[in-house]
Amino acid sequence: MVRADIGIYGLGTMGSALALNLAEKGFDVAVTNRDADEIFDIMREADALAGKLHGHEALADFIVGLKTPRVILFMIPSGTPMDAMIEMVAPLLQAGDTIIDGGNANFHDTRRRAAALAEVDLHFVGMGVSGGEKGARHGPSMMVGGTAHSWEQLEPMLRAIAARYEGDPCVAHLGPDGAGHFVKTVHNGIEYADMQMIAEAYAIMRFGLGMRAGDIGAQFEAWNKGPLRSYLMEITGEILSYEDGDVLFVDLIRDTAGQKGTGRWTVIEALQMGQSASMIEAAVAARSWSSEKDLRERLAAQYGAQREAVSVSLEQVEQALMAGRILGYAQGFRILQQAAEAYDWPLDFARIAQIWRAGCIIRSALLDDIAEAYTAHSGVRQLLEAPKIAGKLKGAMPGLRAVAGAALSGGHAAPALTGAVGFYDSMRQGSGTANIIQAQRDFFGQHGFERLDQEGRHHGPWWESEA
Ligand code: 6PG
Repeated sequence: MVRADIGIYGLGTMGSALALNLAEKGFDVAVTNRDADEIFDIMREADALAGKLHGHEALADFIVGLKTPRVILFMIPSGTPMDAMIEMVAPLLQAGDTIIDGGNANFHDTRRRAAALAEVDLHFVGMGVSGGEKGARHGPSMMVGGTAHSWEQLEPMLRAIAARYEGDPCVAHLGPDGAGHFVKTVHNGIEYADMQMIAEAYAIMRFGLGMRAGDIGAQFEAWNKGPLRSYLMEITGEILSYEDGDVLFVDLIRDTAGQKGTGRWTVIEALQMGQSASMIEAAVAARSWSSEKDLRERLAAQYGAQREAVSVSLEQVEQALMAGRILGYAQGFRILQQAAEAYDWPLDFARIAQIWRAGCIIRSALLDDIAEAYTAHSGVRQLLEAPKIAGKLKGAMPGLRAVAGAALSGGHAAPALTGAVGFYDSMRQGSGTANIIQAQRDFFGQHGFERLDQEGRHHGPWWESEA
């Protein structure tokens, strides 16, 4: 009997697509699923690849059907199902075997699982897989965290199935335990912010500039040929071209956004590390507020829902999206830098930008500049300090300012774009307003502060007058 190179447990959309991708690249893939129907479905569907796919209904047969040391990829819902599977599978494995969680798991869980399995000489890989079903089937971007041993087992397979950017496979071993899942989480946070800013730009164009939706779609498509080129820009252009009879298809979709947690986790982790991902938070908040549709409808009746016409040019909207995107990425990379220090991960920021250039949801032309900004010899500490990025941001800021200002005065909700301006203005002030905060803290709580003109810790004269 042929022993498979890898086993895949979980034949939902992503698991099946990855199994077919691996089989197509010549690897023997053992597949199984909790519900056996999916095994029959994939075996039927796989027809031409059937010789490379080996379906097993029993877990024990699936495990015996793998080459040792084994590699088992789980594509199942994150959270408790993963713990349950580890409990079931681990006793059937041997030292040196690797379990991979390819879902959008919380990296804290991944760290806990990796540590627990290391105790019994098993390896646990947290792998972020981006690109949706099409990506998984024809070339995803993959962010891998785990031991060097696991990477050695996985590298040839993952390089073979990954998306390629000018020949370079979009996969990398980013560090131990939770590094891969953390980077995927931040990827999703950036995804949230970019999606939100595109939605805000759409609203300003449609309700502030009075453009027809089809024309907005065409505009996005045109921008997608320039510096804003990105997958999210491309699909939004396409989405806006769909009509159902005389009605624009998006107008038939209830405006309440779902979210599975990765955006929120990005924000939580940023705050935990003393950072702020304010634009990602704005995007998470916008989704949360959107889900309160009944309340929004009542408040619309109470306060009025009018939005005024705005006078901004399409060039300014384009600039706003570019500046917003730069600032969104900058917030994402700041979190990655902070996490690299906090968890002692050797994150290679240039490599992360490189593997996001194809296959994943946030792929965009800007990632080329980001990869270049972080190359080892550049000495750039923060993305916003990189000369080429700074040049682009300075050029685009007037547009962002104009659009954010118009949104504010015209009553158009644009929490991510307006928040981006706040972030930019805060970070470019060498002298800010935190002296007032420090004075207030000292006034009510005697917290003390540092002075610019003297060493040491001080209190304000407000305490002396009370003495
Ligand atoms: C990707 C996506 C993918 C998925 C997220 C979105 O990189 O392929 O990010 O992982 O779309 O789960 O999450 P929400 O459901 O929270 O939007």
